[in-house]
Amino acid sequence: MVNVDLIQELEDLRREALQAVADAADERALEGVRVTYLGRKDGRVSSILRRLGSLPPEARPAVGQKANEVKRALEEALQARSAELARRDGGTAVDLTLPARRPWKGGLHPITQAVDEICAIFRDLGFTRARGPEADTEWYNFEALNTPLDHPAADEQDTLYLVDSVLLRSHTSPVQMRIMEAYPPPIRIVAPGWVYRRDTPDATHTPAFMQIEGLVVDEGVTFVDFKATLETFARRYWGADTRVRFRPSFFPFTEPSAEVDVKRVIHRPDGSTVETDWLEIMGAGMVDPNVLANAGLDPERYTGFAFGMGPARIAMLKHGIEDLRTFFDNDVRFLEQFAT
Ligand code: DAH
Repeated sequence: MVNVDLIQELEDLRREALQAVADAADERALEGVRVTYLGRKDGRVSSILRRLGSLPPEARPAVGQKANEVKRALEEALQARSAELARRDGGTAVDLTLPARRPWKGGLHPITQAVDEICAIFRDLGFTRARGPEADTEWYNFEALNTPLDHPAADEQDTLYLVDSVLLRSHTSPVQMRIMEAYPPPIRIVAPGWVYRRDTPDATHTPAFMQIEGLVVDEGVTFVDFKATLETFARRYWGADTRVRFRPSFFPFTEPSAEVDVKRVIHRPDGSTVETDWLEIMGAGMVDPNVLANAGLDPERYTGFAFGMGPARIAMLKHGIEDLRTFFDNDVRFLEQFAT
């Protein structure tokens, strides 16, 4: 009987097709299986369904039912296998049982951390944070600071000029002048910021670097205030047992001038201690009367002191970093060691 043969044929087709689905190694093979059995034109199940009309009426329901059953079973198997392949290939499938990825957490750059720590200590001592322009004039960068343009200090700094007498500031000292012009004493400021010099990058130089300027101006400010303030800062930053030394030096904008060195005591985990060499941490001095006069202040009435330091150098000393350039390479493996 025709319908019995057809039903047997459909059963055989189902077994064969399901095996082909299971054997399909990728999406492309799977699509081949779908076309072979369910393809609209020559699909083997489809053509049986299309031939239903030519069957004797009493045979149609049973064959039609079986053909549809095989078709549905095959569609389900194709879908399941497709999902399985997608999971295997990573595809768009998502495995919700995997642990979530940790979100990226930012951290402050070690130089920024040093700037903030240094400024926080000065804030405790009554200093305000100030800032000035990175592009400034020869007047503010040199002349107002008692540094004639033919002075070796002006030359030594090998300045980057923008136009005519406008330059990228070679130090943060011009902020001293701008603050004295804008605010009456008493003045107590620290001014961190970028400065620029025509330097070839090496382990201790980068053409752009950070400085922190400090300035105190008031009536009756003495060398004792100068020493006590900077010693207090150094001991707070480097440790209470740090020794501080003021070495005579020269800067055009201070008189007298000094370089400030510290000798740190390193505490080892076993309880023993070791002293470092003397480390230079800043230039400083009593504000030159000419500088006060250039700012319109009466040097007979006011005195003050100033200092300038490089927070990157200070961060290098603190963390034992040997090459300044590592701060600017943006290598996350280096930087994330300082993330807090
Ligand atoms: N401006 C100096 C420099 O860049 C650093 C400095 C020295 C700043 C002495 C000061 C100071 O305020 O008093 O080398």
